[in-house]
Amino acid sequence: MCGIVGYTGKKEASNILIDALKKLEYRGYDSAGIALWNNGKINIARIKGKVNDLKKEITGNGNLKGSMGLAHTRWATHGVPSERNAHPHRAADVVVVHNGIIENYLELKEKLKKKGHRFLSDTDTEVIPHLIVNHIREGLNFIDSVIATLKELKGSYALGIIREKKRVMIAAKKESPLVIGVADGEYFIASDIPALLDKTNRFIFLEDDDVAVMQDGKLSIFNIDGKKIERPVHTVHWTGAMAEKGGYKHFMLKEIFEQPRVISDTLIGRIKEEKGVVEFEELKLPDITKMKKIWMVACGTSYHACLIGKHMFESILSIPVETDIASEFRYRNPLVRKDEMLILISQSGETADTIAAMKEGKKRGAYTLSICNALGSTLARESDGTAFTHAGPEIGVASTKAFTTQLALLFLLMLHTGKKLNLLNSDEIRKNIGEIKKIPHKIQTILDMSPTLEDLARTYMKFKNFLYLGRGINYPTVKEGALKLKEVSYIHAEAYPAGEMKHGPIALIDEHLPVVVLSPGDQTYKKTCSNIEEVITRQGNLLLFTDNPDHEMAPKAKNTFFIPETIYPLQPIISVAPFQLFAYHIANLLGTDVDQPRNLAKSVTVE
Ligand code: M6R
Repeated sequence: MCGIVGYTGKKEASNILIDALKKLEYRGYDSAGIALWNNGKINIARIKGKVNDLKKEITGNGNLKGSMGLAHTRWATHGVPSERNAHPHRAADVVVVHNGIIENYLELKEKLKKKGHRFLSDTDTEVIPHLIVNHIREGLNFIDSVIATLKELKGSYALGIIREKKRVMIAAKKESPLVIGVADGEYFIASDIPALLDKTNRFIFLEDDDVAVMQDGKLSIFNIDGKKIERPVHTVHWTGAMAEKGGYKHFMLKEIFEQPRVISDTLIGRIKEEKGVVEFEELKLPDITKMKKIWMVACGTSYHACLIGKHMFESILSIPVETDIASEFRYRNPLVRKDEMLILISQSGETADTIAAMKEGKKRGAYTLSICNALGSTLARESDGTAFTHAGPEIGVASTKAFTTQLALLFLLMLHTGKKLNLLNSDEIRKNIGEIKKIPHKIQTILDMSPTLEDLARTYMKFKNFLYLGRGINYPTVKEGALKLKEVSYIHAEAYPAGEMKHGPIALIDEHLPVVVLSPGDQTYKKTCSNIEEVITRQGNLLLFTDNPDHEMAPKAKNTFFIPETIYPLQPIISVAPFQLFAYHIANLLGTDVDQPRNLAKSVTVE
C-alpha cells in the first residue's frame, strides 16, 4: 500500500509532486522518492523517511527539476524500508512507480536475470521497468512494451511510467486505485482524489486493465488489447481546503470536530420528515421485500460499523443480519445467495479484502450495496449500488468521522428498510428522524468537553494496558474505543463484552489496570452494574462513561464522564466521540505520530 503521483504539463513538476505526495502519506510513509524528466534526462532522488525528508533532499538540487515526473511514498511489503527499495525504480531509461503487489515477480526476475538484467532492490516492482526495457529491446514501441509487460504481471498494480527518450507519461491500473486529474494542458495521476484537489476538480477514474497515455497535452486511454477506449471526466465537489488541517494540530482532531457537520451532511436530502420517509434517490435499491437475508461485511473500524448496523436492524426491525470481517468472509464458504443483500462498508472503497468480499458476493448472485466515502473508488464503482457517506476527505489514518457517518447512514438504511417492509409506519419513522437530527448537537456537547477528556488522558497516559467493557450495541463501540487507543497511542487495549469478562479477562484485573466501562441507562444497565462490581471488588481502576446522571456505580469509579442520552440504536454515534478524543489526547500527550501511526496505512489495498 503506497501512494503514487505523476505530473505532465508546462509547470515545474517537483513542487507539484511533493505537495500531492504529502497528501498521500497516509497510505505509507517509510520511504519516498521522486523522478523528474528534463530535456531527455530523468533524475531520481530516493530516501528512507518521510516526504518532508525527500523535500529537504531535493531542495536546492538543480538537477531535480523538470516539467514531467513521478513520485512515490511507500509502505513496505517486499524489501525493508531503505533507499534502495524506495521507488521510483529504473531499468535503462525506463522509470516506474508502483502501488500494489506483483505476485509472480520471483519467476519474472529469474527469467530476466538469465537475459542479463541486473537488479538493485529487493522489491517486486523492479521487474516492471526491466520487462518494459526487455520488450523495447525486442523491437516494440514504448506503449506496446508497457501493454506486453502488463500481460505478464500477476497481482495488483497502479503504475506511473516515464521514459527518458520520449516526453510521455503512461499510467495503468489493476486492482489498485488510480485517478487522472485533468486541467488545462496538463495531466496528473494520483492514488486518490484529495491529493490533487488544489490542482483540479476534474477526474477520470481508471478501470482495471486501462492504460492511459499522456503525451503532447493529450490523453488517450487503451484497454489491455491496445484498443482505444473512452472514460468520462467527472467533476467532484470536494475542495482543497477539505484536505487541509485548517488550524488544528492534527487531521485526526480536525476530523473528530467535523463530525456534527458531516453527520448532518449525510442526512441532508435523504430524510423527508413531513412525509415520514427516508429516501436514497441516488441509489436504485432492489426490491427489499424480496431480499431473504442481509449481510454486512467490512474491515477494521468499518467492521465495527457492521456490528452496530446489525444491532440497529435487529433491535428495531427484528430482521436478522449476518456480519463478518471481510478477510474471513472471503476465505470461508460464505453461504450468501441470490436474493440476499450484501452490504459492504468502507471509507476508502479500496480495501482489498472488502473488494474481494464484494466480488465473492456478486459471484454468488447477491445484490451488493456499498456504503462508501471515497468517490470513484473501486468498491463504489463495482458494487451494484453505492450510498455515499458525506464525510469529506478523511486524511488521519485513524478513522473517526467516516465511522460516525457510516452509522448515520446505516440508521437511515434501517428506517428505509423498515418502511418498505411495513415494519415501521410514518409516525415511527418521523420520531426516529427527530432523534437522529439531534445527534450533531449532542456530539458537539461532547466536543466542547475536549479539555476534560484531555485531563483524563493526562491521568491515564502512563498505563500500559486497558480493558474496555460494554454490552449490546455498545460492545462494538468499546471495540472501536480500544482500537482507537491502540492505533494512535500504541497502548495495548482490549475490548470485551462486559458479561464475558468473568470468563477469563477478570484474571487481569488489579489496581494497575484501567477498566473503561461504557454503561448507559438502557436495558443493559443493571447487568453492567454487576460487572462493574466485579471490577471494583478486585481493585480495578474504573473509568466510567454513561448517559445516566444517577449511575449507581459512579461513586465507586475513579472517574466518570457523562454523555448525552439518545435512543438505543443511536447510542454508539454519540458514545464513540469521547473515546476518540480520549485516544487522541493520550497519543498527543505521548507525542506519537497521531495522523500517521507506525506500521499503519489508511487504506489496506493488499491482502
Ligand atoms: O477504508 P476502509 O473503511 O475499508 O478501511 C478499513 C480499515 O482498514 C480501517 O477502518 C482501519 O481499521 C482504520 N485504521 C481504523 O482507524
